[in-house]
Amino acid sequence: MKAIIFFSLSKKQNSRHIAEEMVGDHFEIKNLEKPMKCIVFIMFKYGYKTLFNKEVLFEIEDIDFDKYDEVVLVSPVWAGKANAFMKQYLRTNTIKGKDITIIGSCSGEGGYKGYFNSFDSLIDESNNVIEHIMFVKRAKVYERKVL
Ligand SMILES: Cc1cc2nc3c(=O)[nH]c(=O)nc-3n(C[C@H](O)[C@H](O)[C@H](O)COP(=O)(O)O)c2cc1C
Repeated sequence: MKAIIFFSLSKKQNSRHIAEEMVGDHFEIKNLEKPMKCIVFIMFKYGYKTLFNKEVLFEIEDIDFDKYDEVVLVSPVWAGKANAFMKQYLRTNTIKGKDITIIGSCSGEGGYKGYFNSFDSLIDESNNVIEHIMFVKRAKVYERKVL
């Protein structure tokens, strides 16, 4: 069984759509921060929070990980890396002994080179990262089985 943990922020909800197309149990990291309309402010605030590991407010229902052998993490690329919400979720909830697929969603404009590596320090060594997948504007552009 797969637990699909996702976060999505933009109006297009790209990561949500990608996550919901997958079969499994879905768990949303829900944004509890004050809503912002101006994209410039959003980019600045969350680019900063992502780069400097600042706290963000979110909620997510409890996950009984004993029910799952596979975990899929789906979220937007921010500042080339795992975004502040997914980072904080993984820092505060240690997943152990699972096969993990990491999926990113991005615009392609800022790049995503550092995205998969940015999970290294966030995922416990007892897990097996089995696959990396990247979507640009919801089209799959990269897929790699990790040995
Ligand atoms: C703060 C912030 C930083 C972003 N940084 C990047 C980036 O480095 N590279 C990129 O290609 N897209 C970047 N984007 C665009 C998002 O990754 C892209 O729109 C994504 O598909 C949004 O997913 P969502 O709809 O699930 O929120 C950034 C967006 C925001 C808000």
